[in-house]
Amino acid sequence: MISARMQEAINAQINAEMWSAYLYLSMSLDAQSKGFAGVSHWFRKQYSEEMEHAFKFVSYLESQGAKVNLLPIDAVPGEWSGVVEMFEKTLEHEKKVTSLIWSLCDLAADDKDYATTNFLQYYVSEQVEEEATAFEILEAAKMVEGDKAATYLLDQKLGAR
Ligand code: FEO
Repeated sequence: MISARMQEAINAQINAEMWSAYLYLSMSLDAQSKGFAGVSHWFRKQYSEEMEHAFKFVSYLESQGAKVNLLPIDAVPGEWSGVVEMFEKTLEHEKKVTSLIWSLCDLAADDKDYATTNFLQYYVSEQVEEEATAFEILEAAKMVEGDKAATYLLDQKLGAR
């Protein structure tokens, strides 16, 4: 049994995960329009991953007999200056998501809600991976910036995700 405030916080997180999905879908579309098919593919996969994060929370609320409230999803930006900016914003956003997950952990601890604490460990680990991946690709994108051949190879690599 989870508290009403935890139920509300998880509903907000479902919205945040869906907003993340929207953000990455938007980056995918922008990358495609700029000719980066591999980057576009990478962000399309990221879109799916964020929807999985959202659905995992949905299933958890259902398993706890709690209500799922689907809140309105705010608009996302539609254009970035290039691949470097996309991954800068991705890293920045993932850091923000990590802080949201940690706040949920704080709330679960405060509620002495051991089930939710246990459930959230998946997201704690996932965020370490999300930040590391965004950082790694950002560094690579900065390294190849301005070099067409190297940028092409990076795009190909990201397309293999
Ligand atoms: Fe759902 Fe990228 O964190």
